[in-house]
Order: sequence, then structure tokens, then C-alpha cells
Amino acid sequence: MSCVLLETKNLTKIFESGFLRKVYIKAVDNVDIALKEAEVVSLAGQSGSGKTTLAKMILRILEPTSGEIIFQGKNIWRDLKGLKDLKWYWRNVHIIFQNPFANFNPFYKVDRTLRQALELIGIDPDSGEGKKLMREAVEVVGLRPDETLGKYPHQLSGGQLQRIMIARAWIVRPKLLLADEPVSMLDVSTRGKILELFLKLRDEQKTTVLFITHDFGLAYVVSDRIMIMYKGKIIEEGDPEEVFFNPKHEYTKELIESVPTLYRRWKFDL
Ligand SMILES: Nc1ncnc2c1ncn2[C@@H]1O[C@H](COP(=O)(O)OP(=O)(O)OP(=O)(O)O)[C@@H](O)[C@H]1O
Ligand SMILES: [Mg+2]
Repeated sequence: MSCVLLETKNLTKIFESGFLRKVYIKAVDNVDIALKEAEVVSLAGQSGSGKTTLAKMILRILEPTSGEIIFQGKNIWRDLKGLKDLKWYWRNVHIIFQNPFANFNPFYKVDRTLRQALELIGIDPDSGEGKKLMREAVEVVGLRPDETLGKYPHQLSGGQLQRIMIARAWIVRPKLLLADEPVSMLDVSTRGKILELFLKLRDEQKTTVLFITHDFGLAYVVSDRIMIMYKGKIIEEGDPEEVFFNPKHEYTKELIESVPTLYRRWKFDL
């Protein structure tokens, strides 16, 4: 039986807005999830269902209104104190954002992201070992080092930039990778390749990937498990086949109806 890596208990986030009359939005509503080691779990749901809010709380950049997040036995909002603990956490939990350009500083070459990754694990990026590791990681994600290293973000495509983010994870080996709509801005042929890399991280580095998407079809193809989020709650959860063929909730049925049949074929190819 595999171990639980991260779990949330009664996790809730209420946003307060409005000036004269306060409006409260329950973006995440009493969520209990458990992510195991080395699994790809999809969090699928429509726009505004609370997916990014949940990811930001897990990344420890947005404080929950109530509830707990436990990572490797530590309550991340209570037990992590000071820069050293936070560095430890962010070495173990990475995020890839939807917009590939948002992951990079436009003024620096993309190498910087990989150099920082090496520094994080205590390897000098200018040493022979550092250079070798950097080239290896770039090759693992299907890029040619000579065509990508030394370039600025605007000189590369969205798909290439997302791959560099995965190369970064390949170097640092985080336990958990939060991928928030990582392929929604990429063309269809590139999407499959990026999703395959998540499976590679799972299989070869035992990384847990939380794949956030509004697309049930992509979730179905890539996941070991699917969680459906609706209005801040996880309304359904299970094996992709089980959820696909036997959806319990009306909303899940709606999500599934929008999936082209093509995906089923793709799943067999992966
Ligand atoms: N900083 C904020 N202040 C106020 N309300 C917010 C804030 N961030 C998110 N919300 C609200 O919380 C709800 C959930 O938003 P969230 O971004 O988590 O949804 P999502 O599922 O990621 O959507 P999308 O698929 O469009 O990315 C929405 O109603 C949103 O308007
Ligand atoms: Mg979002």
C-alpha cells in the first residue's frame, strides 16, 4: 500500500470582498483530500470551482480560513517556521502555472531557472557535474540543449517553456508537483507530450502530480485517480474508468458529455 504524502482536513477558504456591503465567497468548502506517493491525480472542475485556490493553499502562498494541510506529517501552516522550513517545503512542493511565460522572468535566460534548481540541491551550476545535469534534464524532457539553453523566454514556445519547468522538477525532485492547467495554452499535439512527462516523473522519480484541469478528457487520459470539484467541494472521486462509466453526480455527467471520444483511443497509446 502506498503512503499518503499530503492530506487536507476540512480545508476552507472564504474570500471577503465588497466595500459597503460585504460579500463572502466560499472558494474552497470543507475539502478533505489525500495524495499518495507516486500518483498522478487530476482535479477537474469548471472555471471558478476553486481549483487554483486549493493549489495556492497547498503551495503555502494563500492562508486557509480554516482547516489543515498535512505534508509528511507536518501541518504546513502551523509547523513550518522561518525561512529554513519554508525552503524545505518549496523544495518538495513545486508548481507549474497555466501561462508558460508567468513561470519565467523575461529579463533572464531560461537557464537561470535550471541553475537555481541546481543551487537548491547544492550543486554548482558552473561545475562539470552541474552542466552535465542541466543538459541531461533538458534532454529528458525532449528538448535539445543547444536550441534552448542560452535563450530568453520570448525566444521559446509555450510548450518548450513548460518542458523547462518539468526539467527543473527533474533536477530538484520535488515530492509533489502542482500543475495548474499546464497544457491549456498549448496546442493539442504538444499537450500529449507534456502529459507523458508527468507519467515519467511519477514512474522514474516517484513524484506525485496534482494535475489541475477543466478538461475531463485530459484528466481521464493521464490520471491514476480523478477528483471532481464543484462550487468549492470535491463532489466525486475515484478511478478514471469508474468515474467515466459510472458518474454519480449530475455535474460529473455534464463534464463527461463534453469529452470527445478521441481521448479513449489516446489513452491506449500513452
Ligand atoms: N483573491 C481573490 N479574492 C476574491 N475572490 C477570489 C480570489 N481568488 C479567487 N476568488 C474567487 O474564488 C472562486 C474560486 O476561484 P479559483 O481561481 O480557485 O477557481 P478555478 O477553479 O481555479 O477557476 P479557473 O478554472 O477559471 O482557473 C471564484 O469565485 C473566484 O472568483
Ligand atoms: Mg484556476
